[in-house]
Amino acid sequence: MKLCMIGTGYVGLVSGVCFSDLGNDVICVDRDSKKVEKLKRGIIPIYEPGLDELVLKNYKNKRLKFSTNLKDSISKSDIIFICVGTPTKKNSSGADLRQIFNVAKEIRTSISKFKIIITKSTVPVTTGDEIEKIISQKVSKKLFSVVSNPEFLREGEALRDFTYPDRVVIGTNDKRSNKILKNLYSPLISKGAKYVNTSRRAAELIKYASNAFLATKITFINEIANLCEKIDVNIEDISIGMGLDKRIGGRFLRAGPAYGGSCFPKDTKAIVTTADKFKTNLSVIRSVIKSNDNRSSLLLKRVFDILKGKIKNKKICFLGVTFKANTDDMRDSSSLSMIPSLIRKGAIINYFDPTGEKIEFKKFKNISFSNTIKTAIKDSDLIIIHTEWNDFKSINFKKEIQNKKFKIFDMRNIYSPTKMREQKIKYFGIGS
Ligand SMILES: NC(=O)c1ccc[n+]([C@@H]2O[C@H](COP(=O)([O-])OP(=O)(O)OC[C@H]3O[C@@H](n4cnc5c(N)ncnc54)[C@H](O)[C@@H]3O)[C@@H](O)[C@H]2O)c1
Repeated sequence: MKLCMIGTGYVGLVSGVCFSDLGNDVICVDRDSKKVEKLKRGIIPIYEPGLDELVLKNYKNKRLKFSTNLKDSISKSDIIFICVGTPTKKNSSGADLRQIFNVAKEIRTSISKFKIIITKSTVPVTTGDEIEKIISQKVSKKLFSVVSNPEFLREGEALRDFTYPDRVVIGTNDKRSNKILKNLYSPLISKGAKYVNTSRRAAELIKYASNAFLATKITFINEIANLCEKIDVNIEDISIGMGLDKRIGGRFLRAGPAYGGSCFPKDTKAIVTTADKFKTNLSVIRSVIKSNDNRSSLLLKRVFDILKGKIKNKKICFLGVTFKANTDDMRDSSSLSMIPSLIRKGAIINYFDPTGEKIEFKKFKNISFSNTIKTAIKDSDLIIIHTEWNDFKSINFKKEIQNKKFKIFDMRNIYSPTKMREQKIKYFGIGS
């Protein structure tokens, strides 16, 4: 099939390359000409395990193309996936849909034969109706069908998630589009993915409700961890004990820093705003947002307690600054609020991240990036394990750190508190 992905970011690039690997002809379009030029030269603009090889393979065999020419790419394709960003609006908590509607306006100038137009971007319920309205102002409804096909991939495991999804959700009442899309996804369905055909509005809501539920699960266990810290109980025991109940499940039930990333913070806010529009109070999600917003200051207070209130001139090392492991994505990472706050209190920050130095911290004084874990930690008073990269899982702290009075705050509970105690390391975890 001939596909066009509009927006070549985390979702557009990953799904585009995976569709091409399944034998389809795919054009990935982006308005960012630098990004497109890089991709044509084999330089992948994001960090995602395994993505480089798959892009190169499919680019070489010409099933995958990159372009900045939207009109031409749309006219050459039968199925158009909209994969542009839907960030939070400035000064409001609703989704900013300008990129989506701009694309819809461009699409309507390039349709001369039947096309399926799909929102893969996460969009509030009824956005599909709006897109249909915009396009039908210039194009006969017989020539297009607007479908919702939300994407559930996780950064860091995106290729696997795309290829082996739990479910493929297709929101359309149009039988012809449903048949074509079931066929497009048949290689994934035959590997076990459940195919769910529902209404367009339901598909849009399934995505938001799923993300809000996962954010709730994380926030729930984070709050239980706060209780554990007061009663000498280890949260890891609670996560295991709860997670073994199949009705609950162990995934997304690990306590840690505030949830971040490009999806949960913006999507929880957007679903509440959408519900407000329809005069419905999503009070559970509202309190999840509030609890998560408070989490970074709660953890900063813990840092303060660990250092006995003496932050000034303390050398604090962050291991990992992205919102989770195996991605370079800094969007809404809790390090973005914690690090500046510690700098303001007089701390001297050093950090290491496997995906390199971050532009977000360049504007601050008293922060430096180290190229290796060894150099990052060697003079530290406190090491904060912020992100759960495998690289951080077997560090010999005693050997590597010169300051023998160092402390560790493990926000991912990677290490065993008992083993740390045996080594006489001052170790603090989450929820213990
Ligand atoms: N990142 C994730 O893990 C993830 C997972 C599931 C769903 N989503 C959703 O998918 C959507 C995209 O997310 P992302 O993380 O891939 O965003 P992104 O910012 O990485 O990529 C979006 C791309 O769209 C391009 N773009 C914007 N307007 C354009 C236009 N008119 N023409 C061509 N290109 C244009 C931008 O230049 C950018 O490269 C969002 O709605 C997001 O919520 C993201």
